Amino acid sequence: MSGILGATLRHTQAEYPGVEWTFSSRADCDLRDAGACVAYVSRLRPDAILQLAAVSGGIGLSMRQPATMLRDNVLVNLNVLEAARRVGVGKLVLALSSGMYPADAPQPIVEATIHDGPAHETNYGYAYAKRLLEPAVRAYREEFGLSVIGLAPNALYGPFDRFDQESGTVVRALIRRFHEARPRSGPVMVWGDGTPRRELTYAEDAARAFMWGLDHYDGAGILNVGSTEEHSIRDIALAIADELGVDRARVAFDPSRPRGIDRRRTDNTAFVERSHFRYTPFREGIRRTVAWYESHPPPAGGAGCPSS
Ligand SMILES: NC(=O)c1ccc[n+]([C@@H]2O[C@H](COP(=O)([O-])OP(=O)(O)OC[C@H]3O[C@@H](n4cnc5c(N)ncnc54)[C@H](OP(=O)(O)O)[C@@H]3O)[C@@H](O)[C@H]2O)c1
Repeated sequence: MSGILGATLRHTQAEYPGVEWTFSSRADCDLRDAGACVAYVSRLRPDAILQLAAVSGGIGLSMRQPATMLRDNVLVNLNVLEAARRVGVGKLVLALSSGMYPADAPQPIVEATIHDGPAHETNYGYAYAKRLLEPAVRAYREEFGLSVIGLAPNALYGPFDRFDQESGTVVRALIRRFHEARPRSGPVMVWGDGTPRRELTYAEDAARAFMWGLDHYDGAGILNVGSTEEHSIRDIALAIADELGVDRARVAFDPSRPRGIDRRRTDNTAFVERSHFRYTPFREGIRRTVAWYESHPPPAGGAGCPSS
C-alpha cells in the first residue's frame, strides 16, 4: 500500500486496538481483474473494506492518459463493490475526490452538485470515474442492501507522501524543491503568481475521517471530508520555507508559469455536523510533514510542478 492515505492508516492503526488490519497492494491483487478481486476478497473474508486504490496523479498524467484513468478507476471500484456484495462484506468505504466536481460548481461546493455540470477538461477521466461512485453507492445499497458509503477528501499532504514522484500536490512539490535549494543561494522559484488558494487536508485527519465513516456513518449521501481551511500558494510556500529554514526573501514567483485553478472551496458541513471533527491546523501539519521529510528525504532529482 503506497498511497499516502493507506500508508497513514497503517501508521495510525494503533489508535484502533480492536481492529485486525490487512493492508493490500497491487502486488497482492490487481483489482482491475474481476475474478481475481472476488477470489482475493473471498480468501480474506474481511468484515469491512476501505477501498483506497486509485489511478491518480497530476494534470500531466490526467491529460496524457484520460482513458486509463477512467477505465482503471471504474474497474477497480466496481470490482470491489461486486466482490464485497458477493462475499457479504459488512461495510465498504469508497474514496471519491473533490476534484470530481463540476468545474463551475458554485463554491463552497456541496455534495448535491456532483452531477450539475461538466468536469474540468484537464481531469475528466478521473473525475467521471469518481462521480460514478455516487450512483454506485445508492444502487448497491438499494438493490443489494450493501452497507457502502462514499467519502470525498480534497488534496492530502503529510508524512508518507510519495515525495519521489514528479507530480503531485503543491505541498509535496514545494517541500522537495525548497529542501533541495536550501544549501544553495539565490531565488527558489514557485510557479504562478502565488495568489491561487488551496484547501489542504493533513493525511492523518483524512485517515481518521475514513475510520469515522467506517464506524459511524451508513448513509447513501456522499460526504465531503476535507478540511476547508484555505491558503494561498504564497502562504503555503512561505510556511514551508519557514519550516525548512529557507530565507523568505529567496521565495520568488514566476507569473509566466501555469498557476492552476484559482480556488476550489468545498463545504464539509454535512460531515462536520455529524462527526464534530477537528482538523489539524495547517502550520502544525506542515511542521510535522517537514520534520518527517527531513528524516526520510528521497534521492535527489526533479521536484515536479510546484503550482498544482
Ligand atoms: N491523495 C490525494 O490528495 C487525494 C485527494 C482526493 C481523493 N483521493 C482519493 O483517496 C484515495 C487514496 O489516495 P492516495 O493518494 O492515498 O492513493 P493513490 O496514490 O492515488 O493510490 C493508492 C494505491 O492504489 C493502488 N492501485 C492502483 N491501481 C490498482 C490496481 N489495479 N489494483 C490494486 N491496486 C491499485 C496503487 O498501488 P501501486 O502503487 O502498487 O500502483 C496505489 O498505491 C484514492 O482513491 C484517491 O483517488 C486522494
